[in-house]
Amino acid sequence: MSEYQIVEHENETLLRDGTIKLHGPQAFEGMRKAGRLAAMILDEIAPLVQPGVTTASIDDKVRELTLEGGAVPATLGYRGYAHSSCISINHVVCHGIPSEKTFKDGDIVNIDVTPLLDGWHGDSSRMYLVGDVPLKARRLVDVTHECLMIGIAQAKPGNRVGDIGAAIQAYAESNRYGVVREFCGHGVGRLFHDAPEVVHAGRAGTGPLLRPGMFFTIEPMINLGKPPVKLLSDGWTAVTRDKSFSAQFEHSIGITEDGCEIFTLSPKGLHKPPYA
Ligand code: MF3
Ligand code: CO
Ligand code: CO
Repeated sequence: MSEYQIVEHENETLLRDGTIKLHGPQAFEGMRKAGRLAAMILDEIAPLVQPGVTTASIDDKVRELTLEGGAVPATLGYRGYAHSSCISINHVVCHGIPSEKTFKDGDIVNIDVTPLLDGWHGDSSRMYLVGDVPLKARRLVDVTHECLMIGIAQAKPGNRVGDIGAAIQAYAESNRYGVVREFCGHGVGRLFHDAPEVVHAGRAGTGPLLRPGMFFTIEPMINLGKPPVKLLSDGWTAVTRDKSFSAQFEHSIGITEDGCEIFTLSPKGLHKPPYA
């Protein structure tokens, strides 16, 4: 689609390419701040992810850090979700609900946070290792981070959304891992979840054309086993059907003239474990 629609939002001019918003410099600045806070929260909790610690205590810390940063957790009250983070352990693919459950030695954990700061959503997640994690699981975590960065490398003007998923899928499957199909990356900005849908497996050259000003997340979920997931009866927790371990990393990015800007990069360089 090549026709832009102009939509006014307060004092900023917002363009649209079809249903996908094209943001200007003020929006980039807003996302930079929200994204930096998300990354700082993920940095701060790294030393706390230890055997015996409850997931609820990490969620409390996420809420504290979010509020201290002048933001609110976007997940709190989102479609009835009552927590400040999602904490997904081992075979939990995503949307694990914080509880009195404790981490144990050998766990791999995804923690996903979304501070809403001055109207902008900074959505990011990373993996954490609890104690001694076997090589097989550490390798899954490493490859999943590579999947995210390989996807991000495709996020540039002229490419299409499908190029991102195709690159991720090719790399994951070359490692004999399964790519989750049921959950996607998404447009992000003033809305938590917006167009486009960013699939993590697909065909190169398909989907919407990427243009400067588009904001979205890339958040591949990669399984040691087969791709299918099922939803637990709590209505949130997604687990691998075959009980295999699953890993995920997520960044919020904005398309620029010559590539993209990652809004949620760690200021401390804690992109992937080990963090110590
Ligand atoms: N942060 C998640 C995402 O990456 C969404 C979590 S919604 C919740 O899109 F309600 F489960 F918290
Ligand atoms: Co997201
Ligand atoms: Co997220």
